[in-house]
Amino acid sequence: MKELFAVIGDPIAHSMSPQMHNDLFQYYSIDAHYQPLLVKKENLEAAIKGLKAIGISGFNVTIPHKTEIMAFLDEIDPLASDIGAVNTVVNQNGKLVGYNTDGLGFMKGLASLTSDFVNQKILIIGAGGAARAIYYTLAKTGVKGMDICNRTVEKATHLIETCPYQITSEALSLEQAENKLSHYGVIIQTTNIGMSPNMSQLPLSINFLRESSIVSDIIYNPLETFLLSEAKKKKAIVQNGIDMFVHQGALAFQYWTGITPDISRMKQIVMEQLGGTKC
Ligand code: ATR
Repeated sequence: MKELFAVIGDPIAHSMSPQMHNDLFQYYSIDAHYQPLLVKKENLEAAIKGLKAIGISGFNVTIPHKTEIMAFLDEIDPLASDIGAVNTVVNQNGKLVGYNTDGLGFMKGLASLTSDFVNQKILIIGAGGAARAIYYTLAKTGVKGMDICNRTVEKATHLIETCPYQITSEALSLEQAENKLSHYGVIIQTTNIGMSPNMSQLPLSINFLRESSIVSDIIYNPLETFLLSEAKKKKAIVQNGIDMFVHQGALAFQYWTGITPDISRMKQIVMEQLGGTKC
């Protein structure tokens, strides 16, 4: 019988995951289907019970359910538990087990640019949910120095103080980060700045950006944010959010099927959906 996979969220119509995973199922001759499911906040518990009752094989979880879903799962992987968010669920012999592949997906994308990122001085811009997944995952991996700057500095301080892994970090205002930007070999942008309606804004000024440093923006729509186009002019190495998106999906696929999927194929499918060519 065909296996069922899904992504739950609200809104969900524009998710690129169904095409990406359905293409992989076909490519690897797996008899399965991946379905987007609109689940309202108030229906989350009922939806999870229903998915379990029908024996769903696995699913992804997106906004606004990544944290609330944890209460309705049978087990949570330690990294997801520390991050406080689940984006991938695996049905393991009838038990729903939650994982977080967002931070790991980001890390794999970064590793495709530099194998030496653990020894780089890293700056994260933003202190929301995405920043937390990336910060905790990189800290767990052994990154030595990683600062966080945010419009609301207290949120950056909170993130650092609650991190369960050993790391040297400073919480900075945006202005402080601007002034010491040349200290960083890797800069990771996790805020909404650069997305519609803030497309012509920079999250911070990059006057002191160092040549050849890496600027990775987790936004993939637009494919090139204003930050990335300005960073390119300063001869930085830039990366958009496609890598993180594709790698988080690849890890989910691996958890579900045991197969390490073809990343370049996945990228191509996503790029086709976004209608662009810059990667
Ligand atoms: P996500 O889960 O995508 O990370 P989030 O948890 O809402 O989203 O976090 C959004 C991040 O973008 C926060 O760091 C937020 O800064 P504040 O903590 O000060 O709110 C940042 N952000 C959003 N809009 C911003 C803006 N107009 N200027 C500066 N930072 C902004």
